[in-house]
Amino acid sequence: MKLTKGYNSKFWKDKVVWITGASSGIGEALVHELKDKGVKLVLSARRKSELERVRIQAGLSDDDCLILPLDLEKFTTLSELPGLVIRKFGRVDVLINNGGISQRSLAHETNLSTYQSIMNINFFGNISLSLALLPYFQNKNAGHIVSIASIAGKFGVPFRTGYSASKFALTGFYEALRAENTNHNIKITLVYPGFIKTNISENAYSGDGSKHGKVDPGIEEGIDSRVCAKKIISAIEMGKLETVIVRPKEKFAIFLHKYFLGLFSKLIPKAKVV
Ligand SMILES: NC(=O)c1ccc[n+]([C@@H]2O[C@H](COP(=O)([O-])OP(=O)(O)OC[C@H]3O[C@@H](n4cnc5c(N)ncnc54)[C@H](OP(=O)(O)O)[C@@H]3O)[C@@H](O)[C@H]2O)c1
Repeated sequence: MKLTKGYNSKFWKDKVVWITGASSGIGEALVHELKDKGVKLVLSARRKSELERVRIQAGLSDDDCLILPLDLEKFTTLSELPGLVIRKFGRVDVLINNGGISQRSLAHETNLSTYQSIMNINFFGNISLSLALLPYFQNKNAGHIVSIASIAGKFGVPFRTGYSASKFALTGFYEALRAENTNHNIKITLVYPGFIKTNISENAYSGDGSKHGKVDPGIEEGIDSRVCAKKIISAIEMGKLETVIVRPKEKFAIFLHKYFLGLFSKLIPKAKVV
């Protein structure tokens, strides 16, 4: 896969970038790609020990990094967190809503409570942080919100009914939020990755909410997380409205879904997605 060009270091200098899901996968890769750009980083996820591991491996000092554990599922507890970031660094410039959970179960084998948990983490947890920061961004007429959706938010993918729904929901929310906030100069970038090589399928929910615990072949052969992170960073720099980070066959699937829905709906049940 073609790599993006070098970063615009002036763009990043002294910015405060808050990354959720920073303890693993794409979020961890974003930390490594940003660590030498003169940014201050806020790392969030549930596992404090893993966030500390990422901070140490990235060579970040306490002066340049704030570890801010949070549970996106407990989305009503997040509203005070922007205040802690501003107290430490004096500002927030970019929020990357990356933390999330996937699903590997057929709809008829999935408990309603599992659907609810997916929506709480991937949708309500995600938008809660954006809503908590919104008045601050509106007051300063600046700010960039990035939301990591998925190719499963472009078309419905088998074994991921709840996951697809949560990622489609992000598109609706953020496109509407963008329209409401153009006068405030708030940038919103939606990111649609395809298969990226991370722990996503191991951590995914089975129907009863237990861990799937297996690596899908698609994920095993997926795009390297550092390549994905580079592309996200480049999209932020360019102020892109959205970016799709996929291999050619997933790109073709998006095309088929858009222009040949009948054919797409015959082919997608046969696609190897688990
Ligand atoms: N990998 C792919 O193929 C792919 C494709 C499309 C989109 N995505 C999206 O990319 C994002 C990152 O996933 P990944 O691939 O990097 O998977 P990953 O390796 O499983 O990482 C998921 C991250 O989300 C955090 N997280 C999960 N549940 C959380 C919760 N309740 N509260 C706070 N943080 C939580 C995890 O940290 P803790 O466990 O420490 O909380 C971890 O840091 C997700 O939104 C995913 O949907 C991934």
